[in-house]
Amino acid sequence: MSNPTLDHLLSRRSVSANAMTEPGPDADQLGQILTAGARVPDHKKLVPWRFIVFEGAAREAFGQVIAEACRAEEDEPSTFRLDTEAKRFLRAPVVVAVISRVVQTPAVPEWEQVLSAGAACQNLMLAATALGFGAQWITEWYAFSPGVRQALNLSENERVAGFIYIGTAKERPEERDRPALADIVTTWQA
Ligand SMILES: Cc1cc2nc3c(=O)[nH]c(=O)nc-3n(C[C@H](O)[C@H](O)[C@H](O)COP(=O)(O)O)c2cc1C
Repeated sequence: MSNPTLDHLLSRRSVSANAMTEPGPDADQLGQILTAGARVPDHKKLVPWRFIVFEGAAREAFGQVIAEACRAEEDEPSTFRLDTEAKRFLRAPVVVAVISRVVQTPAVPEWEQVLSAGAACQNLMLAATALGFGAQWITEWYAFSPGVRQALNLSENERVAGFIYIGTAKERPEERDRPALADIVTTWQA
């Protein structure tokens, strides 16, 4: 018997940010996507992540931040490169930055908290795709840029886990090879 949730998991594909167009999710849909993003395994309810939404003109303004970071951090970037960087966030109608936020506590190792941020990224992806949008989890270079970190007001305990680009797919993505289970699954035996 067909199961819609399992069908979604077994057919999901990322859509390249370069292959996205309008429309993006409306306010209600974005609320649902973010709510799904916040419903992930989270040991001791530390909420070790937060989300920053970029929409409309904010995407262009943040592109200037990325281009400025590129100018400051790269060795003589070309005008073409700077122009490309300035347009990064314009590839999709909505971009959600997922910020991993590690809480200092002996109760939950950092590793678990970072994994929870990854789960938040994937839940955002799955929710956006379930609503019929295309989505892509991207870091590119600027997730790790000191200048971009500063512009995002990240604290010492925070890192960008990913930028989730969300929009409408211009075309259906092609299938992508997946690992054979025989190569990645073993059954433990004593
Ligand atoms: C943490 C993380 C960072 C990623 N960063 C990028 C990136 O910067 N650029 C990119 O093209 N794909 C990036 N990817 C890969 C895509 O999100 C996606 O997984 C890939 O295009 C394969 O598509 P699929 O999700 O349908 O398997 C990243 C994936 C992860 C998990």
